[in-house]
Amino acid sequence: MQKIISKVLITGVAGFIGSNLLDYLFENTSWQIDGVDNLSTGNKKNIEHHLNHNRFTFLEKECKDLTSLKDYDIVFHLAALPRIQPSFDRVNEHVEANLNQAIHLIELMILDNHYPRLVFSGSSAIYGTPNKIPTPETEKVDCLSPYAFQKYEFEKYLELIATRYPIDYISLRYFNPYGHRSFNPENSFNAYSSVVGIFLNRKREGKKLLVTGDGQQKRDFIHVADLAKANYLAGTHSEKLNTAFNVGLGDTLSVLSLAKMIDGDNFEFIKKREGESDITFADTAKISAVLGWVPSMNIKDYLATELT
Ligand SMILES: NC(=O)c1ccc[n+]([C@@H]2O[C@H](COP(=O)([O-])OP(=O)(O)OC[C@H]3O[C@@H](n4cnc5c(N)ncnc54)[C@H](O)[C@@H]3O)[C@@H](O)[C@H]2O)c1
Repeated sequence: MQKIISKVLITGVAGFIGSNLLDYLFENTSWQIDGVDNLSTGNKKNIEHHLNHNRFTFLEKECKDLTSLKDYDIVFHLAALPRIQPSFDRVNEHVEANLNQAIHLIELMILDNHYPRLVFSGSSAIYGTPNKIPTPETEKVDCLSPYAFQKYEFEKYLELIATRYPIDYISLRYFNPYGHRSFNPENSFNAYSSVVGIFLNRKREGKKLLVTGDGQQKRDFIHVADLAKANYLAGTHSEKLNTAFNVGLGDTLSVLSLAKMIDGDNFEFIKKREGESDITFADTAKISAVLGWVPSMNIKDYLATELT
């Protein structure tokens, strides 16, 4: 039986994926939506087209300053500092944003004895460089960065606390998201955002694309609209699952091939970055079978429209 949903919360609503999820829910549901964001890496411009709508309330604050989740049927938790490289340099700040503030949400649920479905934005970064290609959810965990570890830790906290309290969660392990608003010019962590957005932006500015290492690292690029759909399906699934799903295209492209597709030979190589995987390639059999999710956009088709 389908759950009745009337009000939901999106944390990180002013970010790249959160604002696309907000658009998706506006279009595909009649729910009331609260969105929280401290605007640390997000941008109010991403959500300004919804700000005066009576279905949406924007709460400019930290997740840790939320005092109750009682009003919500679903909490989509996307707020985070989601960049691998800065997570090595500003570790405590990342532990606070990616772990402590997420745990605060669980504590509010326990406090009120109210357990909305929690849809957590996890990451394929927890697989490191995997043994199995394509990679199923059962792959070993191999965190190569503090960011990956924090994403893994929160999944583990959910699993552990669910042995004592009736937590109802789904973790969506995103592979390499791209699409509208992935590149935010005002975000100081921009250099580490989606390579698709960075390359398209450099081409627009007439600059050479910068390919890290030898460019042979492969990525499973997944369009943000498909992530929004996965969040919706996870939020509305009738049963409590308490599990994790991969969300990727199920195909890979090397970063060098991507650079060539976007701007021919107008690229140069720069130093490889530590802490990043050699390959991401999702096995999406589980999410297709359980949630009925399939991706609708292919990176090659996306580039064909973006570049014409
Ligand atoms: N983009 C990716 O490559 C990628 C890949 C895998 C997983 N994810 C996950 O998806 C989620 C969304 O990522 P994104 O790419 O949209 O990032 P983003 O930086 O664009 O969005 C994150 C949003 O969270 C907000 N935020 C950060 N800390 C907060 C706090 N303590 N309280 C309230 N708001 C806070 C930021 O201001 C920002 O608007 C993150 O959890 C991220 O870890 C992203």
